[in-house]
This record gives sequence, structure tokens and C-alpha cells, in this order.
Amino acid sequence: MADRLIEAAQAENSRPIWCVTPQNWRAAAQELPASALAFADASGFRAEPGGLIVLPGPDGSIAGVLFGVEEAPRDPLAFGKLATALPAGDYHLALPPANPRLAVLGFLLGSYRFERYRTRSGSRPRLVVPAGVDAGYLTRTADAVALARDLINTPANDLGPAEIEHAVRELAARHGASVVVTVGDDLLAANFPLVHAVGRASPRAPRLIDMSWGDPAAPKVTLVGKGVAFDTGGLDIKPASGMLIMKKDMGGAANAIALAEMVMARKLPVRLRLIVAAVENAIDGNAFRPGDIFPSRKGLTVEIGNTDAEGRLILADALALADEEAPELLVDFATLTGAARVALGPQLPPAFTDDDTLAADLARHAAAESDPLWRLPLWQPYMSMLDSPIADLNNAPGSGFAGAVTAALFLQRFVTRATSWLHLDVYGWNPSSRPARPEGGEAQTIRALDALLAERYG
Ligand code: BES
Ligand code: MN
Ligand code: ZN
Repeated sequence: MADRLIEAAQAENSRPIWCVTPQNWRAAAQELPASALAFADASGFRAEPGGLIVLPGPDGSIAGVLFGVEEAPRDPLAFGKLATALPAGDYHLALPPANPRLAVLGFLLGSYRFERYRTRSGSRPRLVVPAGVDAGYLTRTADAVALARDLINTPANDLGPAEIEHAVRELAARHGASVVVTVGDDLLAANFPLVHAVGRASPRAPRLIDMSWGDPAAPKVTLVGKGVAFDTGGLDIKPASGMLIMKKDMGGAANAIALAEMVMARKLPVRLRLIVAAVENAIDGNAFRPGDIFPSRKGLTVEIGNTDAEGRLILADALALADEEAPELLVDFATLTGAARVALGPQLPPAFTDDDTLAADLARHAAAESDPLWRLPLWQPYMSMLDSPIADLNNAPGSGFAGAVTAALFLQRFVTRATSWLHLDVYGWNPSSRPARPEGGEAQTIRALDALLAERYG
């Protein structure tokens, strides 16, 4: 989608876009030929938010575009509508909206198409980078979001644990990072018993992927991702409706990979570590069962209350590994619970942390980047819901209360040394298309985190 961007020097004949409000649009469009203004009037153009009119010039040309915006837009990415609505050709912002950086980013995010299995024709407009906006930021961000979306959109028959590993290896090769991968039964010897238990029923071997980059003496920032290539639910099998989009259950890994890409592309002076637990939660004779009890990397034993609560199991071992070196900041991303979607819906990922400063900084960047999230509590009294009569923990509380909170509390038991820990329960999917957010896989919270990391370490 970054190929939808052009430098001003390349675009002599680009068409003007005026971002206008009901009050200012007439004055703004004074450069237009009278016939174009007459056309806007005759069409009843009102400059309401989202309102769009392509104005004809002589001989079938386009004189310009009027796009209605708010003075202080609630959604600065809404400009992304133009990526799918404009005819092919080059455009520039003759009258920019309030936040040109996010507007152009919205345009790029809206230009995304998943074309691995079917290419589509259709208009492909390009936009000139406005003065004062960092083209490097736009390219980096759009490419990272596209990477996350591509990974999520790729179905499980073409994206299993090995292909997730391949994606991390490609990422590492692009930026000179090193990768260590533990596969299959080696997981037992390397002490990742829960990753092994969850992934062992699939013919596509489970794996723990561990990537490192940057100066070992720099502050340690570690990203952990849930990479369940497909979640059938295991023996506690999901109904058809619940299984339908479970190719997206590696959305946490996709987001962690994409954020790692942004951090390395920025050359941020941190020691970055990316840990992905990649498995397929499948059904077979050797599948793990309800009632099974496993040790974990950290030593805590876990009774399996439900094989469909697999994400917290693989993350428990991945987080324990991450925690061993006591990073300054530890962030995990996971499509962890249906309860998160019930609580906040697909657009608003719950964020869990005990670090109030981190929560406040993150909320501020989430707002500034139009990359929303919402804090939920690590409510300690609910920890008892994870009690098991015969093991240290049960992975699936029976009550059904506060499912996103109890999942986060489960993870918290495996993090004891990191200075700050943040857990993000992302949905990773747009159920339907909105401007800048096409239906399908979606990156969530990584633009906010990229800004936070740049502020802290840049
Ligand atoms: N991957 C799912 C969570 C999920 C479901 C995310 C639908 C987004 C949309 C996870 O592995 C899961 O199945 N969680 C169970 C946990 C329960 C068994 C304690 C859930 O949320 O129902
Ligand atoms: Mn599950
Ligand atoms: Zn899952």
C-alpha cells in the first residue's frame, strides 16, 4: 500500500483534494472553475463528514475533489475512504484536513487489498506526500500493517506453525536479527511443556520462535505473540460458527511481528526480542485432554479445564521465557478470549497492566494515533477463580465471569520479574469494512505502541 504514495516532484498533474466543512467549502474551492462549483451545487453537495464529490473538468478530466471533514475529526483515518472511492490517478491535498499525517496514513491503510488468491481490478488512486509529513513513517507503518493483515488473512492451509516461523525468519533477515527456533518434541527437552501439549496433535509441529535484535546493552523490550495458526478448540471442539474465522487466532503473533518490523525499521536503540509460540490447536488421538495436568516452564502445574483455552497455555511458557531476563518492558498480544469481544467489541482491545504510567502513556498514544484500546483491571480477587483442587492452576474457570480478566490473571502468574508487563487481548479482525479498515485481518495497538516506544527510547 505504500506504493500508493508519491513525491510532489513526481506528480505535476495531480488533482487537488479539498477537505472542507459546510462553512468553508465555498471559499476553499474558489480556485475551481465556475462549472465545477455549479456541478457541486447541482449535485446538492453539503460538505458533511464523509461527503465526497468528484468534480468534472473539461474533456472528461477531473477538476478536483471535495471531501467533507469535521473541524476536529473524531476519526482522522476516515480520509481513508478516498482510497476506495476515487478514480485512478494522482491527487494532492490542496486543503489538508486537521491531521494530514493520519489522513494520508488512513489513505494508505484503506488502499490495502489481500490479493494472494484473487487479484481485483478497480481504481488505484495515488496521493502526494503533503509537506511536513514524514514519508518514512508512512511507508514503515503502512508496510507493517499490511504484513499483519496478510498474515492474518492467509488461511490456515497455507499458514501453519512452519509458515509463521518463516515469516519471523524473513523479518529477521530484513533487519539483521538472529532467530532460534525449538520445534516438536525438542520443546519437551527445552522445557516448553505447554507449547508442546497444545500443539502436539497437529501434523504441523508446534514451535517456539525466539528472535533477538539490537545492542545487547540497550534497554530490553520484549514482544510476545500468540500464534495459533488455527483454533479448532481441540477436544472441547468449537461449534461451526465459533470456528469459522479461527485462522485469525495467530493475530497476536501477527501484531507482534508487525510491531517488531516497525521498531527495527526505526532503528530504535533498544534490545528487541520477539517470542512467538506457534501451534495448531488440532484434534487427533494424541490431543491433550480436559482433565490432563501439565507442568509449565515456570514450574507451576496446570490442570486443563478446557482445551479451547489454549492461548493462555502457550503464552504461559512464552511469557515465562521472556520474563527470565527481566526485561524493562514486556508486551504480549493475543486473540485470547471471546469475552474481550463481548466486553468491548471488535474495535477496542482490552489492555491489562499494573503499571499506571504505562497505561496512561499508552492511552495518550492510542488517542493520538487513532489506534484505540481500553484498560481493564487485573482484579486480584478473581485470581481464586483459577484455583484447581489438584494443580496450581486451572486454565479455564467454570463461572464464565470476567473471562478476559481471568485470562489476563492466568498470564500474570507467569510474569514475576519484568519491570513492566502489558497484555493486549486483540480481536485482530474487522467484521466489515470501514474507511481505512477493510474487512478481514487487522493490526491493532501496534501504531500506539510504536509511538510510545519512539517517545521512550527514540
Ligand atoms: N481464540 C479463542 C478466543 C477468541 C474467540 C478470540 C473468538 C476471538 C474470537 C480462545 O482460544 C478461546 O477459545 N477462548 C475461550 C476460553 C474459554 C474456553 C475459557 C473463549 O473465550 O471462549
Ligand atoms: Mn481456543
Ligand atoms: Zn485460541
